[in-house]
Amino acid sequence: MRAVPDAGPVLPFPKGWYVVAESGDVAGRELVGIEAFGRELVLGRDEGGVVHAAQDLCPHVGGRFSQGGVLDGDCVVCPFHGWRFGPDGRCVEIPAGDPIPERARIRKWTAREREGCIEVFHGRRGQEADPAADVHDQRSDSSG
Ligand code: FES
Repeated sequence: MRAVPDAGPVLPFPKGWYVVAESGDVAGRELVGIEAFGRELVLGRDEGGVVHAAQDLCPHVGGRFSQGGVLDGDCVVCPFHGWRFGPDGRCVEIPAGDPIPERARIRKWTAREREGCIEVFHGRRGQEADPAADVHDQRSDSSG
C-alpha cells in the first residue's frame, strides 16, 4: 500500500470554495479527473445526482480513479483491483478478499453545485466546509 501524499504540508492555497467544473462536465457515473488547489481530484455523481469529490489516487498501489473508476452508490471504486472506498473515505471492500489495512482510506472533499458550476471546498483536513467562505475560480481556460 502506498503512502498518501495528502499527508504533506498544507499547500499555499487559501481556504474557500474552488470552482472546478461546469455541472455538465460530470454527467454519468464515471469519475472525472480535475486539478484544483494544487491537487488532483476526481468528481462523480451518486445515484441521486449529488456531486462528490475525492483524491485521484488509490492508496493500494497508486492507480488513478480517473482512469475508469466509478461512483457506485456512495462508494468510489478503483478501476484497477476494485477496492471500494465509502463515504468517509475508508476502504470498505477488497474484492480479492485480503484483509482491509487500517490505513486504506482516501481523502474526500465537500462539493456543491451553484449556478451551473461545481465547487469544492478546500481547507485544513477535517475542517467543516464554510458555506460563506470566499469562492475562487480555478477552471482552466479551454477556449483557446
Ligand atoms: S490500484 Fe486501486 S485497487 Fe489497486
